[in-house]
Amino acid sequence: MNPGIKVVLGVTGGIAAYKGAELARKLMELGLGVQAVMTRNAEKFVTPLTFEALTGSPVIRAGLPEPGDDPMPHISVPRSASLMVIAPATAGIIGKMANGIADDTLSTMLLAADIPVIMAPAMNPAMYANQAVQENIARLKTRGVRFVGPSAGEVACGETGEGKLAPVEDIVSAVKEALNLKTDMDGLNVVVTAGGTREPIDAVRYIGNRSSGKMGVAIASAALRRGATVTLISGAMDVEPPTGVAFTQAMTADEMLNAVGEAFKTADMLIMSAAVGDYHVNGRSGGKVKKKEDWTISLAPNPDILMEMGKRKESQTLVGFAAETERAEEHGLEKLRNKNLDVVVINDVSRKDIGFNSDFNEVTIITKSGAVEKIPKSPKTTIAGKILDTALAVRDGSKPRT
Ligand code: C5P
Repeated sequence: MNPGIKVVLGVTGGIAAYKGAELARKLMELGLGVQAVMTRNAEKFVTPLTFEALTGSPVIRAGLPEPGDDPMPHISVPRSASLMVIAPATAGIIGKMANGIADDTLSTMLLAADIPVIMAPAMNPAMYANQAVQENIARLKTRGVRFVGPSAGEVACGETGEGKLAPVEDIVSAVKEALNLKTDMDGLNVVVTAGGTREPIDAVRYIGNRSSGKMGVAIASAALRRGATVTLISGAMDVEPPTGVAFTQAMTADEMLNAVGEAFKTADMLIMSAAVGDYHVNGRSGGKVKKKEDWTISLAPNPDILMEMGKRKESQTLVGFAAETERAEEHGLEKLRNKNLDVVVINDVSRKDIGFNSDFNEVTIITKSGAVEKIPKSPKTTIAGKILDTALAVRDGSKPRT
């Protein structure tokens, strides 16, 4: 999965390491990709499997890489990420970073990283108050490292004072601030469809299409990051649905119509990026049809889900896609009008370097008021952001002025 923004979560050895797991989950729910890195001591408190299960990626552990692993994770991992968060941060990792000591994977990564770093210290209050620790923190602050907490209270050893890991929500807020995440979709219910439908021919064969689901997943992740509540309804996809979405699988156009129809009732925005098959098989066989010389299959049209939602539309913002091979803009505009859309995203599927199964796309976005924006070849994650920007602008523009 490529959710666009990746955060490296460093977990060091303290009793609060289990809260690192909660943090990983919360970051994933924001539509962020999380790469966990654990120190040897962290593994004494929580297993790497916990983080692997939560983040969906193998944990980077202390020690030298095994044959076949990335030989230089300390360089490549922070380069592919936007932020490092160390939670909990022990006096040890703070001291190492402040003094340029690189003696395991995480401390080496911290020195190699050219991205913002957030540290959430957790330790015994006497240790936290120690002048050496305080000097190390002060030094790191002057170098731009952001600190969240610690908070005051009873710590694991039974003593009371400043040394508790800051509340996970506070660390999440610091991450949002550091990444400059927009909150302009707070409170919005967004329904996104993705992937391709599959219409059964018999018990084993189907008619499908080439959609990978990447565009829809990028939109769902971007909407999550901006604060929306996201429902993802998908057919077949090559990618995983992002953590944090309410996910429904709908393999046929009929199933998708039902799922979208239900979700549409409480939606503020529907973005139909699924490639819905236009036909289903008439008189589908329940068993497997035996091989034969000739086989003529008769097809009947599927419901047009988007057109149907266009009819049912009240205050929802409706975004549709138009995959075209010729006269793309003209055909896209026609769809916008026929299906009562607010925004249409047109892509030229005759090109091999973008579109289907690619991480890139090049689109033209047209709004119902005729504004045209051409987005040059860009990652689908960037295009997702532009689509949401436009949909929000149209939505705000159509609200009655007070
Ligand atoms: O008419 P066309 O299939 O090109 O329209 C594409 C748009 O309509 C996409 O947003 C797609 O998700 C949606 N669509 C639909 N139901 C169909 C076919 C397409 O909702 N049966």
